[in-house]
Amino acid sequence: MKKTFLNLLKQPITNSYLTKIDKKTKSKEFFYNLQVVYDSKTHLVSLSKPVNPKMQFTDKYAHRASQSITMLKAFKKVSQNLKKRFKPNKTMEIGSNDGVFLKNFNKKEIIAVEPCLNLAMITKKMGYLTYPNFWTKSLAKKIFKKYKGIDLIYSANTICHIPNLKEVFDAVSFSLNSDGVFVFEDPYIGSVLKMNSYDQFYDEHVHLFSLLSISKLLKKSNLRIFDVQLLSTHGGSIRFYVCKKFSKFNCSKRVFKLKSKEIKFGLNKYKTYLMFAKRVKKSKKDLLKLLKNIKSKRKKIISYGASYKSATIYNYCNIGTDLIDYAIDTTKNKQGKFTPGKHIPIKAPNGGIKKNVDYAFLGAWNFIKEIKKKEKNFLRRGGKFICHVPKVKLIGL
Ligand code: TMP
Repeated sequence: MKKTFLNLLKQPITNSYLTKIDKKTKSKEFFYNLQVVYDSKTHLVSLSKPVNPKMQFTDKYAHRASQSITMLKAFKKVSQNLKKRFKPNKTMEIGSNDGVFLKNFNKKEIIAVEPCLNLAMITKKMGYLTYPNFWTKSLAKKIFKKYKGIDLIYSANTICHIPNLKEVFDAVSFSLNSDGVFVFEDPYIGSVLKMNSYDQFYDEHVHLFSLLSISKLLKKSNLRIFDVQLLSTHGGSIRFYVCKKFSKFNCSKRVFKLKSKEIKFGLNKYKTYLMFAKRVKKSKKDLLKLLKNIKSKRKKIISYGASYKSATIYNYCNIGTDLIDYAIDTTKNKQGKFTPGKHIPIKAPNGGIKKNVDYAFLGAWNFIKEIKKKEKNFLRRGGKFICHVPKVKLIGL
């Protein structure tokens, strides 16, 4: 049974940055109610009503995974480890974005699937065979006809975007060789609860996974988890290593350990999620209090990163240009536009935070290490970052 535990109010599509903010554009902006449910049968946490993927993954998709050095390094490392551990001849990536993972592979060794046409064109131009489609059973059949079974299927920050997980897993099960491996990683619900990072809920994050939920769901597609890893990327992610039910892989101790940790933490109890929702309300109150207090002293606050996550915060807390002057973001196709819903202007960083800025809200808090390194001068002259996780706080030198 699905029970709602969190209401993050009216939210826009996080990827829909506005090019102008006149009356007509504003009136056309799409909003939906962001409510989050816990399914007591599967333990899966999901949005109550996902947005139509065709509205999200368009030919104007803004996010570029290779924008951050942290992610470039992370994808290089995982590709090296996977090659060494599984020695795949044929690999496939589901959700290849701008090729940040692909580029660690020889062009003949890997196939890419990417529904956003603008992104699929990037990797096609790089020379990688890219299917500009959503991952479905019919696409799996098409690919299988041509290439037969796949040895390794990899996917990062994509599977949690897809409403119909049964179809995803059935299509994977169909495509894998008998000892093939499916490795996927997405933000981890355990980290969200621990860090109070409620901004991990937005239209694209249709589900947030736990080991408990994914184990249950995979069974229905004759798949099983044989290894698992918790990662620090994206503010806390989980990487699943999956194989066919009767495959050669033995289940690692890490799986049993994490399962009991999740049970101890209460990821299989509705009450745990209700308690989290209470903490979210408090976080909103604390953040607004801090921002208003700073603003009353006539200080300048900007947002560091016009991330998707920050859209959830700004819209839920009702934070607009009254509190945040503008956002800076390195992503070229976000610059010159306005954040969805609250319409905060986005600028290029142009050498970092400007001298007249006193505070920078960490819209990209998951890259804090990288940002602190880049913005040493800001911190040295007394500038402070505002961070809402795990609690609302200021970060200085
Ligand atoms: P993400 O968490 O969804 O990847 O979004 C992070 C955003 O922050 C992305 O738009 C890129 C931006 N960003 C910067 O502007 N400067 C930085 O130094 C980093 C690491 C990210």
